[in-house]
Amino acid sequence: MVDTFSYDTLYSEKSIDDPLKPAAHATYDFAVAYPAPETLPMDGLIQALQVAVDSDSEKVLAEMAYYPQQLGALELREYTCAKLAADRGFTVTPEEVALTNGSGEALGLVIQALTNPGDVVLAEEFVYMGTTAQLRRFGADIRGIAMDKGGIIPEALDDQIVALTAAGEKPKYLYTIPEHQNPVGSTLSTERRKAILKIAHKHGMPILEDDCYVDLRYKGEMQPAFRALDDSGIVVYVASYSKLLAPGLRMGYFTASPELMRRALSFKIGSGPNQFAAVAIEGFLKNNLDSHRDNFTPMLEAKCASMLASLEKHFGDSGATWSTPEGGCYVWLTMPESSDIASIRDEVFQQGVGYVAGTNFEADASGRIGSNCARLCFAFESVEKNAEGIALLAQLFKRHGQM
Ligand SMILES: Cc1ncc(COP(=O)(O)O)c(C=O)c1O
Repeated sequence: MVDTFSYDTLYSEKSIDDPLKPAAHATYDFAVAYPAPETLPMDGLIQALQVAVDSDSEKVLAEMAYYPQQLGALELREYTCAKLAADRGFTVTPEEVALTNGSGEALGLVIQALTNPGDVVLAEEFVYMGTTAQLRRFGADIRGIAMDKGGIIPEALDDQIVALTAAGEKPKYLYTIPEHQNPVGSTLSTERRKAILKIAHKHGMPILEDDCYVDLRYKGEMQPAFRALDDSGIVVYVASYSKLLAPGLRMGYFTASPELMRRALSFKIGSGPNQFAAVAIEGFLKNNLDSHRDNFTPMLEAKCASMLASLEKHFGDSGATWSTPEGGCYVWLTMPESSDIASIRDEVFQQGVGYVAGTNFEADASGRIGSNCARLCFAFESVEKNAEGIALLAQLFKRHGQM
């Protein structure tokens, strides 16, 4: 018998015994955060890799045989610059773009470069929990900004900054997801973006813009990026290939003013991201971006329509309201205030329907505003399963006394 070695007195002060997250799926999985595998252009990505090898195998071999440079594969950075100019309306050079292991890594690097423990950071009152987890890990004190259907309310933002500053808690920066916000699905209008930029300049407060869902629009007008409306360096821009292509590729990127880039990258351990993925992504997208979009956006729209129709049918009389997305992955469901769908979430998951309770997205983690809300991902399950799953969700909410 070997005695188990004890690390009890050896752990670093900063380490946390964080339980591993099980990769469990409910029968109707509206808890995930990505489109379905059927929209993933697997054949196209493989072909793109093959074409790259066939046309210049020595070059690809050289790229694979060495550690990638810190900013990541040059060709994908060049492509990313062209895509940003065409889709998002701003110009940067490949030296101003860093590829990262998903945009989550980019967000973490920027957060580390800007955050001291105790710093106040602003975000939408409901916001992506991956970022709030990183912000908290690095000691940020996150405060939520009031939103409506159109996203952050600029006047509320200004009022809050003024109040916090007067209380000696001047916010350091604003984190925002302006297009198809995760979780509520709102898109900030150009007017609001301009107003928010004005407020940001007035208070000397950078904007960390997370454009993760911008490629997933099937209806309405894409709004210009904050970064396209302001060239001063006050905007840090982060985006991802996870939702456009596949999260498993782990490819995101960011661009910021030169010193901030260098300071953010100083937290990066090791080299740039996976070259194999970079070659496949660049090769595929440079020839197929439009056809890929034309392929998946109608699917997304049909899936969303099916979920909305089922909500209307099964939740129409319940007093619940829900968002009507123009893209992205999520419907935001708000049950009457008296209901608590956060506490029954695990049981409902076991009984067949997965969702993420609104409490998980509260910027200030107060537990006060999200227990009657849920994020439902419409992008992953099929049109049919979206309809069936919402019908079952209504039954389960009734069974648990929430409807
Ligand atoms: C708003 C937002 N930002 C960033 C990410 C991180 O994505 P990735 O690291 O796959 O690029 C996600 C993932 O769900 C997200 O929803």
